[in-house]
Amino acid sequence: MENQPRSTVDRNRRVILFPLPFQGHINPMLQLANILYSQGFSITILHTNFNAPNTCNYPHFTFKAILDNDPHDERYSNLPSQGFGAFSRIFVFNQYGADALREELKQMLVLGKDEPPVSCLITDGIWYFTQSVADSFNLPRLVLRTSSLFCFLVYASIPIFDNRGYYKLDSTHLEDQVAEFPVLKVKDILKLGIRSKNDAGGELMGNMVKQTKASAGIIWNSFKELEGLEFERVSHDFQVPSFVLPFPKHFTSSSSSLLEHDRTFFPWLDQQPPNSVLYVSFGSAGQVEEKDFLEIAHGLVDSKQSFLWVVRPDFVKGSSTWLETLPDDQFLGEKGRIVKWVPQQEVLAHKAIGAFLTHSGWNSTLESVCEGVAMICSPFWGDQPLNARCMSDVWKVGVCLENGWQREEITSAITRVMVDEGGEGIQERARVLKQKLDVSLIKGGSSFKSLESLVDYISSFHVNKN
Ligand code: UDX
Repeated sequence: MENQPRSTVDRNRRVILFPLPFQGHINPMLQLANILYSQGFSITILHTNFNAPNTCNYPHFTFKAILDNDPHDERYSNLPSQGFGAFSRIFVFNQYGADALREELKQMLVLGKDEPPVSCLITDGIWYFTQSVADSFNLPRLVLRTSSLFCFLVYASIPIFDNRGYYKLDSTHLEDQVAEFPVLKVKDILKLGIRSKNDAGGELMGNMVKQTKASAGIIWNSFKELEGLEFERVSHDFQVPSFVLPFPKHFTSSSSSLLEHDRTFFPWLDQQPPNSVLYVSFGSAGQVEEKDFLEIAHGLVDSKQSFLWVVRPDFVKGSSTWLETLPDDQFLGEKGRIVKWVPQQEVLAHKAIGAFLTHSGWNSTLESVCEGVAMICSPFWGDQPLNARCMSDVWKVGVCLENGWQREEITSAITRVMVDEGGEGIQERARVLKQKLDVSLIKGGSSFKSLESLVDYISSFHVNKN
């Protein structure tokens, strides 16, 4: 892509990257790998067999499967692979992964089985077990945080939330402001899915934060014009070098998709007037009850706007056949298209797209910002409520559905953003934010400089020459 800083290295250094095996984490890690490759580094990707990346799309990388290689290893073989249960793997891999990673790094670093020599290890922040393994080889470990800086600061505050009793508040306090993060409501931090600093999620995030603090640096998929204050605060509180760059502006995430993309709708999309189609997608993992699915469907149809809706086959809980819950084939009418999975960035960049009804996953949020598309935010859990709040209440490039999925609220939000005169302000701010992002990528801009610093930093590591 244009506006890339100079390539300073001559593919004589290798970077090992290790993504968490879920779509929202694989995408940014593979985008980062492409960015570093374009800057002259050789790339090795460590991955699990569960949700293994599509290696064919990356002939220039070396791939190595670790952790769950042995199908008879009972620690991994009986874990759920679908739905929310699949996330239990995160805990199991963190618990048992150290030996396998140590053995793999020994092959590469001590026995010299990987050429060229290794500069550093970059792992997903959630892979907290990797820090002590990297330390045992004196190998610098950088963390890739796949969510926003703001979200990281919130996760780092879980012990404070716990001590101040937020998790024990009853439902009359859901709309209260969170004193430590005034933009947030109590319901937003309850939706993180954590109820104590000592429950499984609280401990996972505590370990993530602790081992990120112990790392050699943090790479953020964001940009400083969006999260400048958070950047200052993270740099101050954590004393670890931070590098902030918007990955989707360098490489799309489509080559790391775990699902096949449908492209058959593009001729239809091409025929739609500019800014007239609502794109609807709830990411790779969220699921809804049948009644919610129907509320969304009615809300979309009642808005009378054209829409392109991604409905993954497992999107509706307990639904065995795709779309069985819709009233009838004619229900969507001429204006609505439903597809299973799309090349999302390409869709968001399409001139016909006028807004995005999203679950506010961080990748989707940033991809939308990159294309200047206004958002209607309907988060499930985790970082999504935080992203939604920032987009609607701080940047004002979207609106939040405050009450889950109710057809009237969905219809009125779509109308507000896409039809009413007031929506033009939201659309305009989305365009301005995109412009700021674009400027940050030009030579001398913050994102441009951040990439230069990252390349210089990785190049400065003492290379293990075996
Ligand atoms: C999860 C969390 O939900 C998210 O909040 C966290 O920040 C990362 O992990 P996910 O729910 O999948 O991710 O959402 P998101 O972060 O938005 O990532 C979805 C990815 O799938 C995006 O890169 C998007 O482009 C891609 N996608 C989505 C497609 O390629 N096709 C589609 O049809 C829909």
